[in-house]
Amino acid sequence: MFEIAPSLLSADFMRLGEEIALVEAGGATVLHVDVMDGKFVPNITIGLPVVRSIRAATKLTIDTHLMIEEPGRYAAEFAKAGADMVSVHVEADVHLHRTLGSIRDAGAKCGIAINPATPLSSLDEALPYADFILVMSVNPGFGGQKFIHPVLDKVRRLRQTISERGLATKIEIDGGVDSHNIAEVVAAGAEIIVAGSAVFGGGQPAQAVRELIDKGTDWL
Ligand code: DX5
Ligand code: ZN
Repeated sequence: MFEIAPSLLSADFMRLGEEIALVEAGGATVLHVDVMDGKFVPNITIGLPVVRSIRAATKLTIDTHLMIEEPGRYAAEFAKAGADMVSVHVEADVHLHRTLGSIRDAGAKCGIAINPATPLSSLDEALPYADFILVMSVNPGFGGQKFIHPVLDKVRRLRQTISERGLATKIEIDGGVDSHNIAEVVAAGAEIIVAGSAVFGGGQPAQAVRELIDKGTDWL
């Protein structure tokens, strides 16, 4: 099984409520919220007040992807603001174990995000403490980038490691996923599939989510 997590970064921020209702109607179960600080990545997006507003408006799972430096300073705040899932980048946090614990203590699932060029070995020690791993298939910072294909092999190796170690860690993938490549992404072992421009870019978000579910199911 897999879930579609539309990335609100590509939604129309003036009509966020309607956009959320549309992706829910299409079958999306997770809302992916990209938080960027203009330092860890070269872009600034949204923060805690918007997450609180989204929480008040939907029962869908809210997944906050923190692309910020020193994420330990804010991670638990996002959980308290209503996020059900909070991920922080392995490249950004020198106190990862502590940060993951703070997210769990605040009542959310904790995840580790990993950039395309960062090796899986950087997750070795922390893996048992994470509920999910967010594998980046583009360099974080912007929506609408091209899928980095070799990342699929990384997903396969991570799937293998998780099963060999007897863990229940979920794999999320983020960046450049569309109706053409979702089947391979699901086949490689990703369970939470983020899609931004593929969902909102064509102006028909509900239909786009349905198509992704349909194409991804082909390989199950
Ligand atoms: C990129 C973000 C992604 C992005 C995905 O830094 O983390 O979540 O919004 O957008 P697409 O699906 O268009 O690559
Ligand atoms: Zn993201």
